[in-house]
Amino acid sequence: MSSTPAATAVALTKTYGRAAAAVHALRGVDATFERGALTAIMGPSGSGKSTLLHLLAGLDTATSGRVLLGETDLTALPDAELTVLRRQRLGFVFQQFNLLPVLTAEQNIVLPTELGGRRAAPLDREWLDLLVDVLRLRDRLGHRPGELSGGQQQRVAIARALITRPELVLADEPTGNLDSRSGAEVLDFLRRSVRELGRTVVMVTHDPVAASYADRVVLLADGALAGEVTDPTPEAVTSALEALRTSLPAAGVR
Ligand SMILES: Nc1ncnc2c1ncn2[C@@H]1O[C@H](COP(=O)(O)OP(=O)(O)O)[C@@H](O)[C@H]1O
Ligand SMILES: [Mg+2]
Repeated sequence: MSSTPAATAVALTKTYGRAAAAVHALRGVDATFERGALTAIMGPSGSGKSTLLHLLAGLDTATSGRVLLGETDLTALPDAELTVLRRQRLGFVFQQFNLLPVLTAEQNIVLPTELGGRRAAPLDREWLDLLVDVLRLRDRLGHRPGELSGGQQQRVAIARALITRPELVLADEPTGNLDSRSGAEVLDFLRRSVRELGRTVVMVTHDPVAASYADRVVLLADGALAGEVTDPTPEAVTSALEALRTSLPAAGVR
């Protein structure tokens, strides 16, 4: 029995602007993201990583092609249904944390369970307790984001992303604003959330060490898939990126 991937991109293209000013951010990407796995998306700056993540999240519309969340075709959904789907089935973690500054850590975490009125996901207290303990936020719950370190803020943002038990968590450079120790804590937790809590995570990063926490690394270059690395080590990822640079001299070099 084959299980449906958590997310699937089918011949996905995204063009910004038009005519002479057109930027082909994605040029026909076919990719599947397995359930219960941590997948990293890597590639040079401007290769389309964030665009792919935003399309998987239904935060932006494709120029052509399709995005499936499980068996649901996001590209065919009216906006209102997409909003509900995002709230109920997806979680997001951003490089800039995106916490609400006037709310405490706990209020930020439970916010997704309060949005959407009658269609809101009910708060599961046991799950909240588990997240708070695993993320070591117990003694920070009453603090506002401004009173927390970057690593603590990102851990709050991750708890918020997981509170509704979404079937897919999308993270764009989640350790991009963290020192290496806080970054390692966040990555450890993302991996634990997959291994022990059964979550599915797709994470964009440009850091080979961060990517080595993943089960699989998908490489993008110039808006197209350019290979993958399974069970990645930082060294394997670094040499795959090197190979990309030498085979694609025109692609942006960081
Ligand atoms: N809103 C936008 N308008 C115009 N061009 C964009 C926009 N967003 C991204 N791009 C362009 O699309 C390409 C891919 O961008 P992006 O997905 O952000 O790459 P990455 O995340 O890999 O750095 C780049 O050339 C970028 O300049
Ligand atoms: Mg980006």
